[in-house]
Amino acid sequence: MTDRYDLPFATGYHAPVLLGPTLDALVTETNGTYVDATLGGGGHSAALLERLGSDARVIGVDRDGEALAEATARLGNDRRFETRHGSFIDLEGLVGEDGPLDGVLFDLGVSSHQIDEAGRGFSFRHDAPLDMRMDRTQPVSAATLVNEADEADLVRMLFVYGEEPRARRIVRALLAARPVETTGQLAEVVRAAVPRLDEAKSVTRVFQALRIAVNDELGALETALDACVQLVRRGGRVAVLSYHSLEDRRVKRFFRTGRFDETTPGRDVFGNSLAPFRDLTRQPVVADETEVAANPRARSARLRVAERV
Ligand SMILES: C[S@@+](CC[C@H](N)C(=O)[O-])C[C@H]1O[C@@H](n2cnc3c(N)ncnc32)[C@H](O)[C@@H]1O
Repeated sequence: MTDRYDLPFATGYHAPVLLGPTLDALVTETNGTYVDATLGGGGHSAALLERLGSDARVIGVDRDGEALAEATARLGNDRRFETRHGSFIDLEGLVGEDGPLDGVLFDLGVSSHQIDEAGRGFSFRHDAPLDMRMDRTQPVSAATLVNEADEADLVRMLFVYGEEPRARRIVRALLAARPVETTGQLAEVVRAAVPRLDEAKSVTRVFQALRIAVNDELGALETALDACVQLVRRGGRVAVLSYHSLEDRRVKRFFRTGRFDETTPGRDVFGNSLAPFRDLTRQPVVADETEVAANPRARSARLRVAERV
């Protein structure tokens, strides 16, 4: 049986998802400038560098210092490659001087390494301090939110970011159990608050909600996509791999309208849409059975690509 380590450009750190379709859609200029806004273990960047010409540039961004170290060890000898430490919420500040860009890639969420590393506190499969910060230099961890946020904020967090229908009940149990310091404790409190059949789903949803909140994942995505309007040249591409519907919905709406709210963009005098991007994926690209069998993480991946117009 194949496992994720057999996939192209996979390492023990992470296996890049939907690699072929992502690069096919992203690359329009072989000697262009590309930003990998979620460098991780550098799998997508490594494959991208292999496709590009000798005058190309790939700038890898990550908010996690460990990811930058991993990718630099892998790709640091390639003079076409450089890294920047920071969140893509500040894409403009990080790569604003490097444009116009030919392509930007977002492979959202966390890497396999971040999940597997017990001490990072992302997974309920290991008992560890409740951390979940992708950037360990930032002050607010999941423990801070669980133990200090007020009831209404916690309920909203679980409803909106976790789409958890029993948010109120779970938050009441959390407040009674404070302080909640570890992933194991949190999972136990959630399990005890919901019917047995829903335990696994609720624990997953609560962990997702906290991770999104701690790292402001949706706010960063919206700000970064907006920045791409200025940073990407006409004809350049933005490719986004998302792993849950909250992200995918935002990407789809933005690629079609240039907005995140429900309004539609205006039209010019000829009736053409004034949206800054043309959506190239009416249906998102998903992984095939072989990839999902080798790498279960690929199951929820949705690739959307848009061209700057
Ligand atoms: C799914 S992994 C990327 C894996 C990578 N494509 C590879 O092939 O190895 C996502 C990475 O994005 C980083 N990340 C998530 N949100 C970020 C943000 N707002 N700014 C910068 N990096 C971010 C995470 O730290 C993680 O390393």
